[in-house]
Amino acid sequence: MSGRLNNRVAIVTGGASGIGLETSILFAQEGANVILADISFEGAQKGAKIIEERYPNVKAIAAKTDVGKEADVKAVVDLAVKEFGRLDIMFNNAGIMHPEDDNALNTEERIWDLTMQINLKGVWWGCKYAILAMRQNATDENKGLHVGGSIINTASFVALMGAATPQLAYTASKGGVLAMTRELAMVHAREGIRVNSLCPGPLQTPLLMDFLNTEEKKERRRVHLPMGRFGEAVELAKAALFLASDDSSYVTGADFAVDGGLSKAYVTPIGEPALPPPSSLI
Ligand SMILES: NC(=O)c1ccc[n+]([C@@H]2O[C@H](COP(=O)([O-])OP(=O)(O)OC[C@H]3O[C@@H](n4cnc5c(N)ncnc54)[C@H](O)[C@@H]3O)[C@@H](O)[C@H]2O)c1
Repeated sequence: MSGRLNNRVAIVTGGASGIGLETSILFAQEGANVILADISFEGAQKGAKIIEERYPNVKAIAAKTDVGKEADVKAVVDLAVKEFGRLDIMFNNAGIMHPEDDNALNTEERIWDLTMQINLKGVWWGCKYAILAMRQNATDENKGLHVGGSIINTASFVALMGAATPQLAYTASKGGVLAMTRELAMVHAREGIRVNSLCPGPLQTPLLMDFLNTEEKKERRRVHLPMGRFGEAVELAKAALFLASDDSSYVTGADFAVDGGLSKAYVTPIGEPALPPPSSLI
């Protein structure tokens, strides 16, 4: 542990699983107090317990939060301020990939609306209440605390490139996250608030693996991955740590792709991956 987030306060939405859980653990390892905000309270509690047992110097709180409800998002930001007196890092990471999301002809309006509610409106509300809280942050140089903060919004590689295996509402929602993040980064740049998008490539998390439920579906994607393997949630957690910490003090408005080179690929190599994937923190 190198204490890159000592004394900081973070909210991680979708903190019960995948990227959010790995990131919550990593943020705590680096010294942050963390609120794991998830629609699955049980999952968030499990994550908070892992942190509590491993890192007694920080506090982890599980919060039942539906990011598709503005009142829930406001409540979790209020909780951070009430419990810890500030909010330094807002990781708007919760998202869904609906099994009935399809192409322009087959996607039903209710699937479109639900996806937008969670993936795009949820991120907007996360940004809105985080900005209001971050404006109030007191500076304490002895503790390495500043005014403002870091907002990280999880988009996706599908916001950067097209797929012939469509999930139209999901893709549109993630494109919205990218565009919104860029604009917020400009609006709040002189308040010490940095806003960046994280664009994961395809990962071995329940979200994608439940969707790619046959070897054929997995292979259809794997062939396009330059490194020859899916990414791991922990690899995104490490990128989120960079964006959350002062190491990225001059980075704002970025479409930060952590995709094993996928979005830069034309023809990919043949053969097995050279290196094994890193181990999970869970
Ligand atoms: N897995 C991938 O391949 C991949 C690729 C690109 C982008 N992403 C994005 O990364 C983010 C995290 O995905 P993951 O792979 O870790 O998925 P995951 O399914 O492992 O975790 C998502 C978490 O979000 C929670 N959640 C769902 N709806 C919620 C809501 N309304 N309110 C609060 N919490 C809610 C779930 O309970 C779950 O704990 C998502 O935004 C996803 O779109 C994932």
